[in-house]
Amino acid sequence: MSTQCHCQGPLCSVGIGTGNPKSKRLKNFELYFEILKAYSTKAKNYVNGYCTKYEPWQLIAWSVLWTLLIVWAYRFIFQLETLWSRFKKKLFRLVRKMPFLGNKIQKELDKITEDLGKHLQYLKVDKDYVKALPAQDLSTTAVLERLKEYSSMDGIWQEGKASGAVYREEKLMELLVQAYGNFAWSNPLHPDIFPGLSKLEAEIVRMACSLFNGGPDSCGCVTSGGTESILMACKAYRDLALEKGIKTPEIVVPVSAHAAFDKAASYFGMKMVRVPPNKMMEVNVWAMRRAISKNTAMLVCSAPQFPHGVTDPIPEVAKVMRELAHPGSQNEILK
Ligand SMILES: Cc1ncc(COP(=O)(O)O)c(C=O)c1O
Repeated sequence: MSTQCHCQGPLCSVGIGTGNPKSKRLKNFELYFEILKAYSTKAKNYVNGYCTKYEPWQLIAWSVLWTLLIVWAYRFIFQLETLWSRFKKKLFRLVRKMPFLGNKIQKELDKITEDLGKHLQYLKVDKDYVKALPAQDLSTTAVLERLKEYSSMDGIWQEGKASGAVYREEKLMELLVQAYGNFAWSNPLHPDIFPGLSKLEAEIVRMACSLFNGGPDSCGCVTSGGTESILMACKAYRDLALEKGIKTPEIVVPVSAHAAFDKAASYFGMKMVRVPPNKMMEVNVWAMRRAISKNTAMLVCSAPQFPHGVTDPIPEVAKVMRELAHPGSQNEILK
Protein backbone atom coordinates (compact mmCIF):
# COMPACT_ATOMS: atom_id res chain seq x y z
CA MET A 1 0.00 0.00 0.00
CA SER A 2 2.87 2.40 0.82
CA THR A 3 5.11 1.51 -2.13
CA GLN A 4 4.18 4.79 -3.84
CA CYS A 5 5.05 6.87 -0.77
CA HIS A 6 8.50 8.53 -0.90
CA CYS A 7 8.36 10.88 2.08
CA GLN A 8 10.11 9.61 5.26
CA GLY A 9 8.97 11.90 8.05
CA PRO A 10 7.24 10.53 11.14
CA LEU A 11 4.04 12.29 10.06
CA CYS A 12 4.01 10.59 6.68
CA SER A 13 0.53 9.50 5.83
CA VAL A 14 -0.11 7.26 2.83
CA GLY A 15 -2.39 8.89 0.28
CA ILE A 16 -1.36 12.49 0.96
CA GLY A 17 2.11 12.35 -0.60
CA THR A 18 2.45 13.66 -4.18
CA GLY A 19 3.54 10.24 -5.47
CA ASN A 20 0.13 8.70 -4.73
CA PRO A 21 -1.80 8.10 -8.01
CA LYS A 22 -5.04 9.07 -6.30
CA SER A 23 -3.74 12.50 -5.33
CA LYS A 24 -2.23 12.89 -8.82
CA ARG A 25 -5.64 12.34 -10.34
CA LEU A 26 -7.12 14.80 -7.84
CA LYS A 27 -4.51 17.37 -8.89
CA ASN A 28 -5.53 16.94 -12.54
CA PHE A 29 -9.14 17.44 -11.56
CA GLU A 30 -8.24 20.58 -9.65
CA LEU A 31 -7.11 22.15 -12.90
CA TYR A 32 -10.43 21.38 -14.61
CA PHE A 33 -12.25 22.56 -11.55
CA GLU A 34 -10.42 25.93 -11.70
CA ILE A 35 -11.29 26.31 -15.41
CA LEU A 36 -14.94 25.48 -14.67
CA LYS A 37 -14.98 27.94 -11.81
CA ALA A 38 -13.56 30.70 -14.02
CA TYR A 39 -16.15 30.10 -16.73
CA SER A 40 -19.03 29.89 -14.28
CA THR A 41 -17.95 33.20 -12.66
CA LYS A 42 -17.80 34.76 -16.11
CA ALA A 43 -21.26 33.41 -16.98
CA LYS A 44 -22.64 34.52 -13.62
CA ASN A 45 -21.28 38.06 -14.08
CA TYR A 46 -22.67 38.20 -17.60
CA VAL A 47 -26.16 37.09 -16.48
CA ASN A 48 -26.12 39.44 -13.48
CA GLY A 49 -25.02 42.34 -15.68
CA TYR A 50 -27.75 41.52 -18.21
CA CYS A 51 -30.42 41.29 -15.52
CA THR A 52 -29.68 44.73 -14.06
CA LYS A 53 -31.85 46.13 -16.87
CA TYR A 54 -34.89 44.37 -15.37
CA GLU A 55 -36.87 44.80 -12.21
CA PRO A 56 -37.22 41.72 -9.92
CA TRP A 57 -40.94 41.28 -10.73
CA GLN A 58 -40.06 41.09 -14.42
CA LEU A 59 -37.49 38.38 -13.80
CA ILE A 60 -39.99 36.37 -11.76
CA ALA A 61 -42.68 36.78 -14.45
CA TRP A 62 -40.26 35.65 -17.20
CA SER A 63 -39.19 32.61 -15.17
CA VAL A 64 -42.81 31.57 -14.56
CA LEU A 65 -43.74 32.11 -18.20
CA TRP A 66 -40.79 30.10 -19.52
CA THR A 67 -41.48 27.28 -17.08
CA LEU A 68 -45.11 27.11 -18.20
CA LEU A 69 -44.06 27.24 -21.84
CA ILE A 70 -41.57 24.38 -21.42
CA VAL A 71 -44.12 22.24 -19.56
CA TRP A 72 -46.71 22.94 -22.27
CA ALA A 73 -44.23 22.08 -25.06
CA TYR A 74 -43.22 18.85 -23.30
CA ARG A 75 -46.84 17.80 -22.89
CA PHE A 76 -47.63 18.74 -26.47
CA ILE A 77 -44.74 16.75 -27.94
CA PHE A 78 -44.77 13.67 -25.70
CA GLN A 79 -48.26 12.20 -25.93
CA LEU A 80 -49.55 8.65 -26.43
CA GLU A 81 -50.28 9.49 -30.06
CA THR A 82 -47.14 10.55 -31.89
CA LEU A 83 -46.68 14.13 -33.10
CA TRP A 84 -46.57 12.86 -36.71
CA SER A 85 -49.86 11.00 -36.40
CA ARG A 86 -51.58 14.04 -34.82
CA PHE A 87 -50.15 16.26 -37.53
CA LYS A 88 -51.51 13.97 -40.28
CA LYS A 89 -54.99 13.99 -38.71
CA LYS A 90 -55.00 17.76 -38.37
CA LEU A 91 -53.86 18.13 -41.97
CA PHE A 92 -56.58 15.76 -43.18
CA ARG A 93 -59.23 17.71 -41.25
CA LEU A 94 -57.99 20.93 -42.84
CA VAL A 95 -57.98 19.38 -46.32
CA ARG A 96 -61.57 18.20 -45.78
CA LYS A 97 -62.60 21.78 -45.12
CA MET A 98 -61.14 23.03 -48.40
CA PRO A 99 -63.87 23.72 -51.01
CA PHE A 100 -62.76 21.54 -53.94
CA LEU A 101 -60.77 18.75 -52.24
CA GLY A 102 -63.21 18.55 -49.32
CA ASN A 103 -66.18 17.97 -51.64
CA LYS A 104 -64.28 15.30 -53.57
CA ILE A 105 -63.36 13.44 -50.37
CA GLN A 106 -66.96 13.68 -49.09
CA LYS A 107 -68.25 12.24 -52.39
CA GLU A 108 -65.85 9.30 -52.09
CA LEU A 109 -66.91 8.69 -48.48
CA ASP A 110 -70.61 8.79 -49.47
CA LYS A 111 -69.89 6.26 -52.23
CA ILE A 112 -68.17 3.89 -49.75
CA THR A 113 -71.12 4.18 -47.32
CA GLU A 114 -73.56 3.44 -50.14
CA ASP A 115 -71.50 0.44 -51.29
CA LEU A 116 -71.38 -0.91 -47.74
CA GLY A 117 -75.16 -0.53 -47.44
CA LYS A 118 -75.61 -2.49 -50.68
CA HIS A 119 -73.25 -5.32 -49.81
CA LEU A 120 -73.71 -5.93 -46.11
CA GLN A 121 -76.31 -8.60 -45.61
CA TYR A 122 -77.27 -7.51 -42.13
CA LEU A 123 -78.27 -4.04 -43.28
CA LYS A 124 -80.80 -5.48 -45.75
CA VAL A 125 -83.69 -5.72 -43.29
CA ASP A 126 -87.02 -5.02 -44.88
CA LYS A 127 -88.80 -4.28 -41.60
CA ASP A 128 -88.47 -0.95 -39.82
CA TYR A 129 -86.18 -0.63 -36.83
CA VAL A 130 -87.82 -0.21 -33.41
CA LYS A 131 -86.61 3.10 -32.06
CA ALA A 132 -88.54 3.48 -28.80
CA LEU A 133 -89.83 1.32 -25.97
CA PRO A 134 -93.29 -0.06 -26.85
CA ALA A 135 -96.13 1.73 -25.02
CA GLN A 136 -97.70 -1.64 -24.13
CA ASP A 137 -95.78 -4.51 -22.56
CA LEU A 138 -95.47 -7.66 -24.66
CA SER A 139 -96.60 -11.11 -23.62
CA THR A 140 -94.04 -13.91 -23.26
CA THR A 141 -95.29 -15.47 -26.50
CA ALA A 142 -95.01 -12.16 -28.31
CA VAL A 143 -91.42 -11.65 -27.07
CA LEU A 144 -90.42 -15.16 -28.15
CA GLU A 145 -92.06 -14.71 -31.53
CA ARG A 146 -90.28 -11.42 -31.99
CA LEU A 147 -86.96 -13.08 -31.10
CA LYS A 148 -87.59 -15.85 -33.60
CA GLU A 149 -88.11 -13.19 -36.24
CA TYR A 150 -84.68 -11.74 -35.43
CA SER A 151 -82.91 -15.11 -35.42
CA SER A 152 -84.47 -15.92 -38.81
CA MET A 153 -82.37 -13.06 -40.21
CA ASP A 154 -79.13 -14.97 -39.43
CA GLY A 155 -76.85 -15.69 -42.35
CA ILE A 156 -75.80 -19.23 -43.20
CA TRP A 157 -73.00 -20.35 -40.92
CA GLN A 158 -73.96 -24.00 -40.37
CA GLU A 159 -71.99 -25.09 -43.43
CA GLY A 160 -68.75 -23.61 -42.13
CA LYS A 161 -66.68 -20.98 -43.96
CA ALA A 162 -67.46 -18.53 -41.15
CA SER A 163 -64.10 -18.43 -39.43
CA GLY A 164 -64.14 -16.91 -35.94
CA ALA A 165 -67.94 -16.55 -35.93
CA VAL A 166 -69.50 -19.69 -34.43
CA TYR A 167 -67.70 -22.58 -32.73
CA ARG A 168 -70.19 -25.22 -33.73
CA GLU A 169 -70.85 -28.70 -32.54
CA GLU A 170 -74.45 -29.85 -32.12
CA LYS A 171 -74.07 -31.48 -28.68
CA LEU A 172 -71.93 -28.63 -27.38
CA MET A 173 -74.53 -26.08 -28.48
CA GLU A 174 -77.30 -27.92 -26.61
CA LEU A 175 -75.10 -28.09 -23.53
CA LEU A 176 -74.31 -24.35 -23.76
CA VAL A 177 -78.01 -23.44 -23.92
CA GLN A 178 -78.73 -25.56 -20.85
CA ALA A 179 -75.73 -24.23 -18.95
CA TYR A 180 -76.68 -20.60 -19.69
CA GLY A 181 -80.26 -21.42 -18.69
CA ASN A 182 -79.12 -22.71 -15.30
CA PHE A 183 -77.01 -19.66 -14.45
CA ALA A 184 -78.58 -16.80 -16.41
CA TRP A 185 -79.76 -14.93 -13.29
CA SER A 186 -76.88 -15.79 -10.94
CA ASN A 187 -74.70 -12.93 -9.72
CA PRO A 188 -71.04 -13.60 -8.84
CA LEU A 189 -70.99 -10.34 -6.88
CA HIS A 190 -72.81 -12.32 -4.15
CA PRO A 191 -70.73 -15.44 -3.47
CA ASP A 192 -72.65 -15.94 -0.20
CA ILE A 193 -75.85 -16.50 -2.22
CA PHE A 194 -74.18 -18.27 -5.17
CA PRO A 195 -71.24 -20.25 -3.67
CA GLY A 196 -71.50 -22.82 -6.48
CA LEU A 197 -70.86 -20.11 -9.03
CA SER A 198 -67.73 -18.97 -7.15
CA LYS A 199 -66.47 -22.56 -7.06
CA LEU A 200 -67.11 -22.85 -10.78
CA GLU A 201 -65.13 -19.65 -11.44
CA ALA A 202 -62.23 -20.76 -9.20
CA GLU A 203 -62.03 -24.09 -11.02
CA ILE A 204 -62.13 -22.52 -14.49
CA VAL A 205 -59.35 -20.11 -13.50
CA ARG A 206 -57.20 -22.89 -12.02
CA MET A 207 -57.66 -25.05 -15.13
CA ALA A 208 -56.57 -22.11 -17.32
CA CYS A 209 -53.57 -21.45 -15.04
CA SER A 210 -52.53 -25.12 -15.26
CA LEU A 211 -52.94 -25.08 -19.03
CA PHE A 212 -50.54 -22.12 -19.31
CA ASN A 213 -48.11 -23.40 -16.63
CA GLY A 214 -49.09 -20.49 -14.39
CA GLY A 215 -47.71 -21.93 -11.16
CA PRO A 216 -49.30 -21.75 -7.70
CA ASP A 217 -49.25 -17.91 -7.50
CA SER A 218 -51.05 -17.33 -10.79
CA CYS A 219 -54.62 -16.08 -10.60
CA GLY A 220 -57.43 -14.69 -12.76
CA CYS A 221 -61.14 -14.14 -13.12
CA VAL A 222 -63.81 -15.19 -15.57
CA THR A 223 -64.74 -12.45 -18.02
CA SER A 224 -67.76 -11.94 -20.23
CA GLY A 225 -66.06 -12.35 -23.62
CA GLY A 226 -63.04 -11.81 -25.81
CA THR A 227 -62.88 -8.04 -25.50
CA GLU A 228 -63.11 -7.99 -21.72
CA SER A 229 -60.46 -10.72 -21.49
CA ILE A 230 -58.10 -8.60 -23.60
CA LEU A 231 -58.92 -5.46 -21.63
CA MET A 232 -58.22 -7.16 -18.30
CA ALA A 233 -54.92 -8.65 -19.52
CA CYS A 234 -53.78 -5.24 -20.78
CA LYS A 235 -54.79 -3.58 -17.52
CA ALA A 236 -52.84 -6.18 -15.51
CA TYR A 237 -49.69 -5.52 -17.59
CA ARG A 238 -50.26 -1.74 -17.45
CA ASP A 239 -50.47 -1.87 -13.64
CA LEU A 240 -47.36 -4.05 -13.42
CA ALA A 241 -45.47 -1.63 -15.67
CA LEU A 242 -46.51 1.39 -13.58
CA GLU A 243 -45.45 -0.47 -10.43
CA LYS A 244 -42.03 -1.06 -12.02
CA GLY A 245 -41.63 2.65 -12.74
CA ILE A 246 -42.53 2.65 -16.46
CA LYS A 247 -44.38 5.94 -16.95
CA THR A 248 -45.74 5.36 -20.47
CA PRO A 249 -46.32 1.61 -20.86
CA GLU A 250 -46.30 0.34 -24.44
CA ILE A 251 -48.11 -2.59 -26.08
CA VAL A 252 -46.12 -4.17 -28.90
CA VAL A 253 -48.87 -5.56 -31.10
CA PRO A 254 -49.10 -7.13 -34.59
CA VAL A 255 -51.27 -5.04 -36.94
CA SER A 256 -53.44 -8.16 -37.40
CA ALA A 257 -54.39 -8.41 -33.71
CA HIS A 258 -57.96 -7.83 -32.54
CA ALA A 259 -59.20 -4.24 -32.23
CA ALA A 260 -59.80 -4.80 -28.50
CA PHE A 261 -56.08 -4.01 -27.99
CA ASP A 262 -56.64 -0.53 -29.45
CA LYS A 263 -59.55 -0.12 -27.06
CA ALA A 264 -57.41 -1.25 -24.12
CA ALA A 265 -54.61 1.16 -25.06
CA SER A 266 -57.08 4.00 -25.24
CA TYR A 267 -58.85 3.13 -21.96
CA PHE A 268 -55.72 2.48 -19.92
CA GLY A 269 -53.40 5.18 -21.29
CA MET A 270 -50.96 2.85 -23.05
CA LYS A 271 -49.10 3.46 -26.29
CA MET A 272 -49.64 1.09 -29.23
CA VAL A 273 -46.48 0.10 -31.08
CA ARG A 274 -47.69 -1.71 -34.21
CA VAL A 275 -45.64 -4.46 -35.85
CA PRO A 276 -46.11 -5.39 -39.54
CA PRO A 277 -46.71 -8.98 -40.74
CA ASN A 278 -44.40 -11.14 -42.85
CA LYS A 279 -45.46 -12.61 -46.21
CA MET A 280 -47.43 -15.35 -44.46
CA MET A 281 -49.33 -12.66 -42.53
CA GLU A 282 -47.73 -13.85 -39.27
CA VAL A 283 -46.17 -11.21 -37.09
CA ASN A 284 -42.65 -10.29 -38.22
CA VAL A 285 -40.51 -11.46 -35.29
CA TRP A 286 -37.53 -9.34 -36.29
CA ALA A 287 -39.72 -6.19 -36.41
CA MET A 288 -41.23 -7.18 -33.08
CA ARG A 289 -37.81 -7.43 -31.50
CA ARG A 290 -36.93 -3.98 -32.82
CA ALA A 291 -40.18 -2.54 -31.45
CA ILE A 292 -39.34 -3.58 -27.89
CA SER A 293 -38.13 -0.68 -25.76
CA LYS A 294 -37.55 0.05 -22.10
CA ASN A 295 -41.24 1.07 -21.95
CA THR A 296 -42.62 -2.22 -23.30
CA ALA A 297 -45.28 -3.55 -20.94
CA MET A 298 -46.51 -6.48 -23.05
CA LEU A 299 -46.08 -8.33 -26.33
CA VAL A 300 -49.12 -9.60 -28.21
CA CYS A 301 -49.50 -12.68 -30.42
CA SER A 302 -52.70 -14.20 -31.78
CA ALA A 303 -53.58 -17.87 -32.00
CA PRO A 304 -55.12 -17.45 -34.49
CA GLN A 305 -55.41 -13.82 -35.54
CA PHE A 306 -58.76 -12.44 -36.63
CA PRO A 307 -58.38 -11.26 -40.26
CA HIS A 308 -56.59 -14.26 -41.86
CA GLY A 309 -56.91 -17.08 -39.31
CA VAL A 310 -53.09 -17.39 -39.12
CA THR A 311 -51.32 -18.22 -35.86
CA ASP A 312 -48.42 -15.95 -34.95
CA PRO A 313 -45.03 -17.66 -34.27
CA ILE A 314 -45.41 -17.63 -30.49
CA PRO A 315 -42.37 -19.88 -29.71
CA GLU A 316 -40.09 -17.55 -31.71
CA VAL A 317 -41.46 -14.46 -29.96
CA ALA A 318 -41.01 -16.22 -26.61
CA LYS A 319 -37.39 -16.94 -27.58
CA VAL A 320 -36.82 -13.25 -28.30
CA MET A 321 -38.30 -12.40 -24.92
CA ARG A 322 -36.07 -14.91 -23.16
CA GLU A 323 -33.02 -13.47 -24.93
CA LEU A 324 -33.92 -9.95 -23.84
CA ALA A 325 -34.84 -10.95 -20.30
CA HIS A 326 -31.33 -10.80 -18.83
CA PRO A 327 -30.85 -9.03 -15.49
CA GLY A 328 -29.05 -6.04 -17.06
CA SER A 329 -31.90 -5.53 -19.55
CA GLN A 330 -33.30 -2.02 -19.86
CA ASN A 331 -36.79 -3.44 -19.83
CA GLU A 332 -38.21 -3.87 -16.35
CA ILE A 333 -41.04 -6.22 -17.38
CA LEU A 334 -38.87 -8.60 -19.43
CA LYS A 335 -36.33 -8.83 -16.62
C1 LIG B 1 -59.29 -13.35 -31.08
C2 LIG B 1 -60.48 -12.57 -30.62
N1 LIG B 1 -60.30 -11.63 -29.71
C3 LIG B 1 -61.35 -10.90 -29.25
C4 LIG B 1 -62.63 -11.10 -29.71
C5 LIG B 1 -63.75 -10.24 -29.19
O1 LIG B 1 -64.63 -10.99 -28.46
P1 LIG B 1 -66.02 -10.43 -27.93
O2 LIG B 1 -66.84 -10.11 -29.12
O3 LIG B 1 -66.56 -11.56 -27.12
O4 LIG B 1 -65.76 -9.24 -27.07
C6 LIG B 1 -62.85 -12.08 -30.68
C7 LIG B 1 -64.21 -12.29 -31.20
O5 LIG B 1 -64.53 -13.19 -31.89
C8 LIG B 1 -61.76 -12.83 -31.13
O6 LIG B 1 -61.92 -13.79 -32.06
